[in-house]
Amino acid sequence: MIKKFFFNLIVGTNNPGKLREIKDLLPNNLKIYSPRQLKIKSPRETGKTFKDNSIIKAKFFSKKAKMACLADDSGLEIDMLDKKPGIHSSRWGGKKKNFNVAIKKVFKELSKKDKDWKRKKIKARFVCALTIYWPNGKNFVSIGKIEGFISSKKRGKNGFGYDPIFIPFKKKITFAQMSSKMKFKIDHRSRAFKKIKRFF
Ligand code: IMP
Repeated sequence: MIKKFFFNLIVGTNNPGKLREIKDLLPNNLKIYSPRQLKIKSPRETGKTFKDNSIIKAKFFSKKAKMACLADDSGLEIDMLDKKPGIHSSRWGGKKKNFNVAIKKVFKELSKKDKDWKRKKIKARFVCALTIYWPNGKNFVSIGKIEGFISSKKRGKNGFGYDPIFIPFKKKITFAQMSSKMKFKIDHRSRAFKKIKRFF
């Protein structure tokens, strides 16, 4: 019989969309907690890179919850906007983290750069830094990326965040038009996860 070891893990995010997607990637030999369940508020994300911020979150939640933590920091980089919104992807949605507000801002910023942007191929990528951090301070960071383009219109109802405006390379539909299964096969989070799953 194969022995599976069980352990507690806090998934370091209070974003329900991300929590759902990370939980779906994890095996069933874990007891998974969210910061909300344990009444832990998120730390300030003071890093300058996705990697820095994922370490800040994973370390913070691991210390507070006294268990291993898996945290991600992710976002959308748009080349024409000098890689913005980048690490500020969530903040572009305002205090209420409203993704419609964030998408409107993307369209507005692109129009400021180039009135004709809708007729052009606007290169972008999703980036995800995943960190697993153990209470003894050991940690491991993994980065995943997916390249694509910005759609000139919102399309699709699935997923979360900027999914309705992101079309991966070699696809004709946005992430929000894909089933979650199809998105997971190629997305930045599952790519980062592939390099970290040996710890579970
Ligand atoms: P974080 O919680 O600071 O890492 O915020 C990441 C933000 O990036 C999210 O709130 C979304 O706006 C955006 N984001 C990250 N991953 C995805 C994705 O898979 N689809 C759509 N938006 C994403």
